[in-house]
Amino acid sequence: MAPSFKPLVFSGVQPTGNLHLGNYLGAIVKFVELQNSHDCIYCVVDLHAITVWQDPAELTKSIREVTAAFIACGIDPKKHIVFNQSQVHEHAELAWIFNCVARLGWLNRMTQFKEKAGKDRENVSVGLYAYPNLMAADIHAYRATHVPVGEDQKQHLELARDIAQKFNTDFGASIAAHGFGEAFFPLPEPLIQGPATRVMSLRDGAKKMSKSDASDYSRINLTDDADAIAQKVRKAKTDPEPLPSEEKGLEKRPEADNLVGIYAALHNKTKSDVLNEFGGGQFSTFKTALADLAVAKLGPIGAEMKRLVQDPAHIDAILRDGSRRASAIAAETMKAVKDIVGFVH
Ligand code: TRP
Repeated sequence: MAPSFKPLVFSGVQPTGNLHLGNYLGAIVKFVELQNSHDCIYCVVDLHAITVWQDPAELTKSIREVTAAFIACGIDPKKHIVFNQSQVHEHAELAWIFNCVARLGWLNRMTQFKEKAGKDRENVSVGLYAYPNLMAADIHAYRATHVPVGEDQKQHLELARDIAQKFNTDFGASIAAHGFGEAFFPLPEPLIQGPATRVMSLRDGAKKMSKSDASDYSRINLTDDADAIAQKVRKAKTDPEPLPSEEKGLEKRPEADNLVGIYAALHNKTKSDVLNEFGGGQFSTFKTALADLAVAKLGPIGAEMKRLVQDPAHIDAILRDGSRRASAIAAETMKAVKDIVGFVH
């Protein structure tokens, strides 16, 4: 019988540059929702961020900004845990163990690494390559069972499962001998759902909305004010056809599909509901409604983020408290891992 583990949610967001609508609809909305059904741990993954160069002052600012975004979006850091990764040394420690569990062949298959490294593979950091092992350590340090992530992280999560599986098998006898039963790490499940798990660029429906896109018109940032949001929606790329009345009509119309998906996700409706209302109509009408909705939903979040980042001491205190509580759990796991592996401690 498969051993049962206490349900626990873990996820991470990198503190690199602006958070945008894609981060919000693809991940944070889900984080907020899961608080009602699960214990949740949400991590600002600063160790992941430095796998590519980060300006130190900007990094500090981004760590506080992501924390502020979590809180402004409705994550409760008292009921759950919000912290930054570098304050809990077990992440790095467990990642080393996983460097020795994961196989080179597994990492060589990671498509995100291939994309990020591009042609300059000789010149990217070793950390960028080993990044999925650190992500596995983030999850397994808490023996988390559920991981809300965007589509793009699915492969990394499969790797985290492979690592758990191999650890459980390789050390099976030791795990049992130390009284942990048949398996020490659960195989974490990805939670990838909703009408807008993949929010696309407002300038090109084939590209993901991204903080690294050169055009700020390609994305809606969580801190954009009402004017900026309205203008970006108005200028969003569309096609000359009116909106279809059925979801099937969105096929091969990536820009229309994206905007309808965003509207649906912001309104907690299905795309089909949205098309019932706007199908057959012009984009201009729909865009006005979308801009109003986006301003209503995101405006208060942006305002709250701006308020929160003005008091860095308060944010830092939240992160310290979260890190302390996270450490207590991760230290237990690490102690057991040391026993299982055979270290003296
Ligand atoms: N790699 C994730 C991203 O870039 C962030 C992340 C790091 C993460 N560790 C994690 C997500 C653990 C889920 C669980 O979006």
